Amino acid sequence: MLENFRKRSDYNMDWPESFDFETDETCQTIFRPFIEEQLEELKAYDSKRPDDITYIFHEHTGRVATDMENTCLYMGLSDKVTKNMYWAILPHDIGKKELPVEIWDTIEKPNDELRTKRRTHTLIGAELVEKRFKNVDHPFKTLMIDIMLHHHEQIDGNGTLSILAKELSKPARLSAIVDAYDGWHIWRPHYEDRDISIPGVLKRMREKKGSTFFDMALAEPFFNMKLKEHNQSGVRTH
Ligand SMILES: [Fe+2]
Ligand SMILES: [Fe+2]
Repeated sequence: MLENFRKRSDYNMDWPESFDFETDETCQTIFRPFIEEQLEELKAYDSKRPDDITYIFHEHTGRVATDMENTCLYMGLSDKVTKNMYWAILPHDIGKKELPVEIWDTIEKPNDELRTKRRTHTLIGAELVEKRFKNVDHPFKTLMIDIMLHHHEQIDGNGTLSILAKELSKPARLSAIVDAYDGWHIWRPHYEDRDISIPGVLKRMREKKGSTFFDMALAEPFFNMKLKEHNQSGVRTH
């Protein structure tokens, strides 16, 4: 299945400049309704999960898209690229709802087998998009699939699909950063007393995982944006 998506030349390795989601007819009439429909389905899926969960998938996707938007603006990217990235990352976890609902909310830290099963949501989501739009050729589709497929990759090649850094686009690299942050900022039972404040998560990302997980050239502006947000909020969690 992965081979279907592995023609690297299909991916634009740089920021998406060649279209404008907000005004592009295909984006507005085909992709936007698709994303909205998929997020509604994800919300319905979330409602089947236990009542006391903290990591709610459709809320996570919204926060991640907003963080992506703010990071792009912080980096000085254009409004067009920023909006394109916002919409492209919004559906990144739709593959989760195609998996059995009971696999997500375990009290214990997931073992390798369960973790691998959960991580198939990247391929499942990409395949869902490819199937639905097999006759549509548009750079937004390519971008959406790139982010969906690669948001759990690592810069050292030890990510979910073992893809090497040189094959990971800037949109995919930044998506991995923004996505991981939100995952670590929302408390879950196996986190116990881990520091999940904004500075706490950034410290963890920088020190523990930084050099091997993330592209630090993109992580630094993200960290700075989050710290600025934290300082402006006036909230001191610790
Ligand atoms: Fe994911
Ligand atoms: Fe995610």
